[in-house]
Amino acid sequence: MRIDVLTIFPAMFDGFLGESLVAKGIEKGLMTVDVRDIRDFTENKHGKVDDAPFGGGAGMVMTPQPLADAIDSLRKDSPARTILLSPRGKPLTQMKARELSLEKRLILVCGRYEGVDERIARHWADEELSVGDFVLNGGEVAAMAVIEAVFRLLPGALGCGDSRREESFEEGLLEYPQYTRPENFRGHAVPQELLSGHHKQIREWRRNESIKKTAEMRPDLLEKRRGAAKISFSIALVHYPVAGKDGSEMVSSITTLDAHDFARLGKTYGANRAYMVTPVDEQRRLVERIIKHWREDDSLRRIDGRKSLAVEVLSTAVSVDEVMADAMGRSKRVRLLATSAGKIPGAVQPGAWRATAAGRAAGEEEWIILFGTAYGLGKSLMARADCVLSPVEGAGEFNHLPVRCASAIILDRLFGRSEKPGEELI
Ligand SMILES: C[S@@+](CC[C@H](N)C(=O)[O-])C[C@H]1O[C@@H](n2cnc3c(N)ncnc32)[C@H](O)[C@@H]1O
Repeated sequence: MRIDVLTIFPAMFDGFLGESLVAKGIEKGLMTVDVRDIRDFTENKHGKVDDAPFGGGAGMVMTPQPLADAIDSLRKDSPARTILLSPRGKPLTQMKARELSLEKRLILVCGRYEGVDERIARHWADEELSVGDFVLNGGEVAAMAVIEAVFRLLPGALGCGDSRREESFEEGLLEYPQYTRPENFRGHAVPQELLSGHHKQIREWRRNESIKKTAEMRPDLLEKRRGAAKISFSIALVHYPVAGKDGSEMVSSITTLDAHDFARLGKTYGANRAYMVTPVDEQRRLVERIIKHWREDDSLRRIDGRKSLAVEVLSTAVSVDEVMADAMGRSKRVRLLATSAGKIPGAVQPGAWRATAAGRAAGEEEWIILFGTAYGLGKSLMARADCVLSPVEGAGEFNHLPVRCASAIILDRLFGRSEKPGEELI
């Protein structure tokens, strides 16, 4: 990953980039960070980067010219997601950091004074990010927070995948309390459960403490998890583009049983729609005939009335683009959640995805959960996904489940209720 930072105080980054794990990561080539002085891009010879605000008021505002030219020159050769650090931005969350860690390039723009001319935020930056509801003197410390949060998620950055997975926010919960030697420190003993050596007991204790800590410190996070049932989503069984044995993209053929099962899965877990996606007209017509049959055949309805309920959610689509266009008719924004049997860098656990997806305004956004037939979703589709879900795994290395089984497990993990009423999503 390459990160360019635009600042009027480049020296602030010397210590940050020269120490600790970030320095090691840069040395190992996991990330390059170039810090650039905004004053080098000014057209005036005094290197002036600020001016008085139109309409009057206290302080100075950063002028648009040096920032626009700096961003344009950095994006000349290849695109880069451009982020303006700003207290008015959307919050930097673990989910956002994960999303950014999948980018090839980032530009971080650090404001100063009373802020940055609004035209930079609107026409040059892709988004504004805030590191918290407080005002800093400048965006430099905020940019460092972004760099560090993103860096930790780069494959190979920490050297141990597990320490990342169990951290605060990864499952929408705060981390459990940690203790180290000595067992008794000035009269304060380590909880007995951690000394028991029973892995199951330790796991349960940690889980409970994690929930308790979150309830005490961040009840809003628990609310988000509970609100997960409100996530608006559809499911799509993709027959193109999917991977063939050699990884190249191909079209797979519809299995009629999939249409039945997909409709029932969608209906059970509350999907807006269940799409069978194929560009082959004849195959779509086949599914449409099945849908028509269920809808119109009274004898079937008499045998099993539920079939006619499930079929309500089933649709066909030529492509994922058509699915997205259909969903746009229901929501302001459509996002793609990809599933895969493989271990994809940056893939997220179901709980982490749920916690973040549930935090967004209901009715604003619809997720399309993509399931691939054949050897899984095609590369071109994986590359378009906003988020990838970590694979379902069992006892060993082999995890090539039939798509009907994998989709059932995944939907249950994302939206299913547990045996304990009231604790469904904890
Ligand atoms: C003093 S602040 C400007 C505050 C602005 N007048 C306001 O009230 O929103 C100067 C710069 O610091 C950075 N900054 C301050 N607080 C921040 C925060 N919480 N998150 C990200 N950036 C921040 C931004 O780049 C901002 O342009």
